[in-house]
Amino acid sequence: MKVLVVGGAGYIGSHMVKMLGQQACSVTTLDDLSSGHRDAVLCGEFVQGDMADRALLDSILSKGFDAVMHFASFIQVGESVQQPAKYYQNNVVNTLTLLDAMRAHGVNQFIFSSTAATFGEPQYTPIDERHPQQPINPYGRTKWMVEQVLADFEKAYGLRSVALRYFNAAGADPEGQLGERHDPETHLVPLVLQAASGRRPHISVFGRDYDTPDGTCIRDYIHIQDLCSAHWLALQSLVGGAASQAYNLGNGQGFSVQEVIDTAERVTGRKITVIDSPRRAGDPARLVADASQARQKLGWQPRYADLATIVEHAWRWETRFDKSS
Ligand code: UFG
Repeated sequence: MKVLVVGGAGYIGSHMVKMLGQQACSVTTLDDLSSGHRDAVLCGEFVQGDMADRALLDSILSKGFDAVMHFASFIQVGESVQQPAKYYQNNVVNTLTLLDAMRAHGVNQFIFSSTAATFGEPQYTPIDERHPQQPINPYGRTKWMVEQVLADFEKAYGLRSVALRYFNAAGADPEGQLGERHDPETHLVPLVLQAASGRRPHISVFGRDYDTPDGTCIRDYIHIQDLCSAHWLALQSLVGGAASQAYNLGNGQGFSVQEVIDTAERVTGRKITVIDSPRRAGDPARLVADASQARQKLGWQPRYADLATIVEHAWRWETRFDKSS
């Protein structure tokens, strides 16, 4: 199978490229390296470029592909509020350019990275696919817009897709070759581990007055490898002729920010300095997925559902240059 991975040099994309290579797919990665890393692309062909570049897309897609996986989005909620134009341009307009190029070259199978942020403030948890989608920030709206575009494209053009709504992707390649390398880093697990390793002086806890048992926000952390295996199964389903679908992806178990810190202290054996800070704007108290659709329809079974394992793999990545640990 020939797969184009757009954004394949980023955190999730690079793990996916590795998995596709292991599944004997012929992989081409397109990435502009604005946030990705060339050395994270472990197999296949690599093309440095922008998905907004239609001529480049034409030249790549003219070689013939079975499917496209799209990971090339901006993902920071706060930044999306400050700079919505940047988000609508990249996440919506440039995605349309990609979809148009696919149509022109007869590539009709598409895997899309969507997000729990399309749901907005939860009306109930765990969140299943029937939960209303009312995003509360531009980032979530861009993803929700593309989901709607995809539904229309299937009806009009027969372009079939799977939108995977990630809850909180975390962890690292169990073999230690890949991990999270965002700059700036905003995600809880890597930040907590950087505080454990001494790369940061402390971790700030954004709010202790939420309506949760310990007052800190609850999230559903999903191992990057399990996320990728869901993409692989989604791709198989499309290749098998399945209609377009959206799936929520999480473990169905929520952990509070404090529980993540406690787990990190246990896994690393280090004391982590914690500073209590005000709430971060736009953080719902509790986001937990009901992923039973993915389990039933895709046959997805998370392998690393245990938070300690997720943190352990991320810690191995955080300390990869540290010979003493
Ligand atoms: N948090 C802290 N301190 C930090 C960083 C995060 O307390 O230094 C807290 C946050 O307030 C939140 C939790 O840790 O309660 C998780 O925060 P992350 O930034 O790691 O993840 P989010 O839940 O905000 O974001 C994730 C994805 C986004 C996506 C969002 C959808 O990373 O891309 O889910 O809700 F938009």
